[in-house]
Amino acid sequence: MIIAQGAEAILKKEGNKIIKERISKKYRLSGLDNQLRSFRTRREAKILEKLSILNFPSPKLYSMCDKSMKIEMEFIPGKLLRSQLDNNPVLWGEHIGKLVGILHSKNIIHDDLTTANMIVNKKNLFLIDFGLSFFSLKEEDKAVDLHLLKNTLNSRHSLVYKDCWNAIIKSYAKHFDKADIVFVTHAHSDHLSEGDITQILKDDTVVVATPDSLQTLNVSVKKYPVEPNKKYDVRGFIFETVPAYNVNPQRLNFHPKSNNWVGYIFEINGRKIYHAGDTDFIPEMNTLNRLSIDIAMLPMGGTYTMTVEEAIIAANAISAKYTVPMHYKRLLGERSKEAEEKLKSGVKNSEVIILDELK
Ligand SMILES: Nc1ncnc2c1ncn2[C@@H]1O[C@H](COP(=O)(O)OP(=O)(O)O)[C@@H](O)[C@H]1O
Ligand SMILES: [Mg+2]
Repeated sequence: MIIAQGAEAILKKEGNKIIKERISKKYRLSGLDNQLRSFRTRREAKILEKLSILNFPSPKLYSMCDKSMKIEMEFIPGKLLRSQLDNNPVLWGEHIGKLVGILHSKNIIHDDLTTANMIVNKKNLFLIDFGLSFFSLKEEDKAVDLHLLKNTLNSRHSLVYKDCWNAIIKSYAKHFDKADIVFVTHAHSDHLSEGDITQILKDDTVVVATPDSLQTLNVSVKKYPVEPNKKYDVRGFIFETVPAYNVNPQRLNFHPKSNNWVGYIFEINGRKIYHAGDTDFIPEMNTLNRLSIDIAMLPMGGTYTMTVEEAIIAANAISAKYTVPMHYKRLLGERSKEAEEKLKSGVKNSEVIILDELK
C-alpha cells in the first residue's frame, strides 16, 4: 500500500515494513539523477544503521539496494508530530531538543528537521527521513539544522512557536554531549585553552592534567593531577601516562624532561590509543610496541617536537596498527603534504592515517 509520495520518494507499507523507493526525476540528467538517488539511498541507509547502534528512536534498517534505489525499514506507527505539536508545544519541544541534541552530539546533521519528519508513537518521539542527512563536526552545520527547524516551527506552528522553541533550546543544551573527562598533556597555551575546555564542561567533568597545567586553569570542576609513568583510574576509566619531552639539544628548552609533562594511553571501545603529547623520539617509546597499540598519535612538525624523519623512527618502533601524525600543519604550512607522503613511505609496520582538518 502506498502511504506517501513525496518529492523524492514513494513510500509503501508492507506489514510492519516501509519500503522507500527513490523515484527518477525527469528534469535531472539521467546519469546525474541515478548517481544522486543511489548516493542518497546509501547515505540514508548508513545513517539509519548508525542510529540503530546508538539506540536512537528512528526506524531500524532492514535492507538497502542502491540499484533499485530502495530502503526497507521498520514501520513506526503513530501520528506525524505536525498534527500533535500545537496541543502540547512545551512537552514536544523537550522531546525535539533531546533528539536533536543527541543527534548533533554524534555529529549527524538531519538537514530536514520539520514536524512532518517526526512521528509521535505513544509518549515517544521518533525521527524519520534521513535522506538528506550527513556527518559533520562543524558547529555551523548544526546551527543551520537548528535554524531550519526554527523556521518551520515559525511558519507551521506560529501560535505555539515561542514556547516550543524555548523548550527545544533548553532541552538541546541539556542533551548535547559534554566531556566526562578532559585530558591535557602540558601547559603550553596551544594545548591548554581555558576557553575551549570551558565549552565542553558539565558539572561532573574531571580535568586530568599535570599539576602546573591545572594551576593555571580556572575552572569550577574537579581537577585531577597526573605525572609520567603511572596508571590511573578516574571515574572507572583506566589510563596510563607516558613521559613527553625533548632530547634534541636545540629543543631542550621547550619541553624539558624535568617538567614531567605527559602523553596518554587510553583504551576506548577495545582500541588502545597512544597520544604522545609534545615530544621527541624518546627511549620510553621503545617499550610501547609490547602494548599492541592500535592508534599512535605522533607529532611531526619539528621546531618544538620531533620532525617527520624522527616520527618515522618512532612510528616504526611503536608499531601501532595505525599511526596518525599531528602537530604539524601550522608549523609546516605548504610543506605538510610532503611530510605526510614522507611519513607514509617511511613507516613500514603501521598504516599511516591523515586526519581531515575540521576548519
Ligand atoms: N519508517 C516510517 N514509519 C512510518 N511512517 C513513515 C516512515 N517513513 C516514512 N513514513 C511516512 O511517509 C512520509 C514520507 O516519508 P519521508 O521519509 O519523510 O520521505 P520524503 O522525502 O518524501 O519526505 C512521512 O511523512 C511519513 O508519514
Ligand atoms: Mg519527509
